[in-house]
Amino acid sequence: MEILKSPKEAVNFRNNLKGSVGFVPTMGALHEGHLSLIKKAREENDNVIVSIFVNPTQFLPGEDFNKYPRRLEADFEICKRAGVDAVFTPNPENMYTDDEILIKAPKIKGYILEGFFRPGHFDGVLQVVNKLFNIIRPTRAYFGKKDAQQLYLIKQMVKNFFFNIEIVEGETVREKDGLALSSRNIYLSDEERKRALSISKALKRAAKLSTKTDDIETIKKEMLDILEVDELQYIAFVDRDFNYIQKIQPGNTIVLIAAYVGTTRLIDNIYI
Ligand code: PAJ
Repeated sequence: MEILKSPKEAVNFRNNLKGSVGFVPTMGALHEGHLSLIKKAREENDNVIVSIFVNPTQFLPGEDFNKYPRRLEADFEICKRAGVDAVFTPNPENMYTDDEILIKAPKIKGYILEGFFRPGHFDGVLQVVNKLFNIIRPTRAYFGKKDAQQLYLIKQMVKNFFFNIEIVEGETVREKDGLALSSRNIYLSDEERKRALSISKALKRAAKLSTKTDDIETIKKEMLDILEVDELQYIAFVDRDFNYIQKIQPGNTIVLIAAYVGTTRLIDNIYI
């Protein structure tokens, strides 16, 4: 497995590849959620490239950029075992220059929900994914539904900028008890982890109730009864294009939650 440390090395490696290229962008601290995307990419492509880059521009001041888990050696081992051909591990110095051309997330859908509580976050995500797409020029790129709004915005960027890339969606991988896997789960104490579980429980309840009623207020009330979080930032009901909806639309609804448990910010969602 090749380790590509700069955009230049990655471009050279890419230019010598034959056949299709599956690409899985990550920030590392790889878990089964990432691995499911990597496995899918391995099945569907001649070549697989994973990027590991804790991207500074998508963290807001005061967020966990400095303490975000970094475990490069363990991540390499995971990638090697999964049959990855190359891991791209750039750094802020070789990815960014001063006074750059910037990418702006769409005014509405880039600034509601996650974008409201983390204004500018998606500008940074789209900026780095744009660079990564141009460096790797993948045939297919793999993103998880765990970050539903990110996935939606990346699909929009592919359309708006005419990238010739197929975006493949991966299902959210969960612990046996339902907790969505996240690199940030390691911040949770045992007691917090128990309460964090109430997020996936509330979403599951919403999915079940939605087979009986399309009334969002009724469903929301039951979700609030289940939640044991410290600060609920949002419970939202949107369609698959991230328009707010008034009634449940079976097959075209995403229910999303963002909340703090202790000092850890967690997001989760369910497609119904
Ligand atoms: P990161 O949080 O490392 O996630 C990398 C990919 O793994 C994303 O597509 C995310 O949706 C997916 N993922 C995370 N947890 C998952 C789970 N439990 N089940 C399935 N997939 C899961 O998302 C980012 O990094 C960054 O914003 C990035 C796109 C790399 C840009 O910097």
